[in-house]
Amino acid sequence: FHIIHIAAEMAPVAKVGGLGDVVTGLSKALQKKGHLVEIVLPKYDCLKYDCIGDLRALDVVVESYFDGQLFKNKVWVGTVEGLPVYFIEPHHPNKFFWRGQYYGESDDFKRFSFFSRAALELILQAGKKPDIIHCHDWQTAFVAPLYWDLYIHKGLNSAQICFTCHNFEYQGAAPASDLASCGLDVHQLNKPDRMQDNLARDRVNPVKGAIVFSNIVTTVSPTYAQEVCTAEGGRGLQTTLNSHSKKFVGILNGIDTDVWNPATDGFLKAQYNVDDLQGKLENKIAIRKQLGLLSDNAKQPLVSCITRLVPQKGVNLIRHAIHRTLELGGQFILLGSSPVSQIQREFESMANHFQSHPHIRLILKYDEALSHSIYAASDMFIIPSIFEPCGLTQMIAMRYGSVPITRQTGGLNDSVFDVDDDMVPVRFRNGFTFLTPDEQGVNSALDRAFNYYANNGESWQQLVQKDMTIDFSWDSSASQYEELYEKSVARARVVHR
Ligand code: ADP
Ligand code: GLC
Repeated sequence: FHIIHIAAEMAPVAKVGGLGDVVTGLSKALQKKGHLVEIVLPKYDCLKYDCIGDLRALDVVVESYFDGQLFKNKVWVGTVEGLPVYFIEPHHPNKFFWRGQYYGESDDFKRFSFFSRAALELILQAGKKPDIIHCHDWQTAFVAPLYWDLYIHKGLNSAQICFTCHNFEYQGAAPASDLASCGLDVHQLNKPDRMQDNLARDRVNPVKGAIVFSNIVTTVSPTYAQEVCTAEGGRGLQTTLNSHSKKFVGILNGIDTDVWNPATDGFLKAQYNVDDLQGKLENKIAIRKQLGLLSDNAKQPLVSCITRLVPQKGVNLIRHAIHRTLELGGQFILLGSSPVSQIQREFESMANHFQSHPHIRLILKYDEALSHSIYAASDMFIIPSIFEPCGLTQMIAMRYGSVPITRQTGGLNDSVFDVDDDMVPVRFRNGFTFLTPDEQGVNSALDRAFNYYANNGESWQQLVQKDMTIDFSWDSSASQYEELYEKSVARARVVHR
C-alpha cells in the first residue's frame, strides 16, 4: 500500500508526548512490512532540525485555500528515522507555525484546519494516489470531512481514510462558523449526525467529523475503546461512536524497540541486557550522583515517573506517591513537563521544597536524554493515571527492567497485570496495579511492590527479567492496522465495481 500519515507530531523532530512516538513507530513498522509510507507535518519553527536528514525545499509551491483566499505553501522534504517526511510552510500573515511551540495557541483551530487542507492539496497537486490517508487526533481530523466534502470531487479518490484518536479529551470543538475558513460547508456539516458537537450545539467538533467521515476509526487500546463508548468515558462522543461501532476498534500501541533498547541506548551511562543487569545498577548509581541523591545503599529502591503533568495523569496521586515512597524508605525521581498552569506552579513549589533532599528529586522540564537515563536507573515506575488511552511509559519502563505500578485503566489495563492476580496466568503477571484512583489505591500497589522488592530478592530479579523480554514491538499492532487497511481497500473495490 501507499500510506500517507498526516499528523501534528512525529518523534523525534516534533514530539510533545506519545502521539509523536506512535506516528514514527507505526510508520517504521509499516515500511518494514514493505509499504510505501510518507508523513506530512507542519514546518514548525521549533522542529528539531538536527534530526532531519537531507532537508530541501521542493520546486513545487502548493496553493491552498483559507478564509476565501489562496495562500502559497512552500514544501520541504527530508528524512526522519528513514522515513520520507513533507513539511508544509504556509505563507500566511498569521505565521501559523512560527510560534516557538507546537500547540496551545489561541488560534489552534485555524492553524490545524489550515494545515489539514494544505496537506490534502499537497497530495493532490503532487499527483500522489495513496491507498490510505491516516490522520491522527483532532488537529488533523479535518482531513476526513474535507476529503469527502471536497477532494473526492477534485479527483483525489484513491484513498481510504483512517482516523486514530489518541485521546478523546481533546476534541478541538469550536464555534460552528470557524469551520468555514478551511472551505467546509458549515450549513451541511453543522448537523447532529455530522459535525455538530453533542454537548454544545452551537459548536462543531472535528473528532466527531472524523468519526463520521472516516472509513476506519481506531483508538489506542482495546480497554480505552470500550471506555469511550460509555457515558462516563465518552466525553459526549459515546453516542456517535456507538452508531459507528462497526468501523471502530482499539489497537494497543507498540514502542519503537530500536529507540528504546537498553542494550544499545547511547544516552545511558552503561548499556545492559536481560542476561547481564550489572549495567542497570551502574545507571542507578550514575543518576543518583548526577541528581545529587544519597547513594550509599545500592538496594534502596528507586521509584520514578516520567510524564506530562496534566490532570489525566493523576497529579495528586503522583504527589502522594512521592510522599509515600519517602515513608517506605525509597527514593523518587519525577521528570515532568507541563504547560504553564496551576499544576506547574504546585510542582515547582514542591520541587523547591525538596531541592536538596537526599531521596527526592523533581525535574520539571521535557528532557529526552534524561528520560532514557531514568528509565534505565529505576527499580519501579509509577503511572497512577485517572484515564490513559494507551500509555507508552509503562512499556518503555518494562523494556528497561523497571517494574510498573499502574492504575487499571485504558491501555495500562491491557499491558500491566498484577503479580497477585490469580485470574491472570502467571507468565503474564508483570507489575503492581490498583483500581481506585485515591491515596489508598496507590498505597495498596506501592506498598506491595516495596514488600516484594525487600523480601523476594531472587524473584524480583526474575520479575525484572520477565518484563524486559515482553514483546512490546510494533510488529503485531502494525499487522492489525495492515489488516484494517486491507479490509477497507477491499470493501471500496467491491463498491466501485
Ligand atoms: P502521553 O502521550 O499522554 O503524554 P504516553 O505514555 O503515551 O503519554 O507517552 C509519553 C511519551 O513522552 C513517552 O515517550 C515519554 O518518555 C515521553 N515524556 C513524557 N514526559 C516527558 C518529559 N518530561 N521528558 C521527556 N520525555 C517525556
Ligand atoms: C495520547 C495518550 C496516551 C497514548 C498516546 C499515544 O497522548 O494520552 O495514553 O499512549 O496518545 O497513542
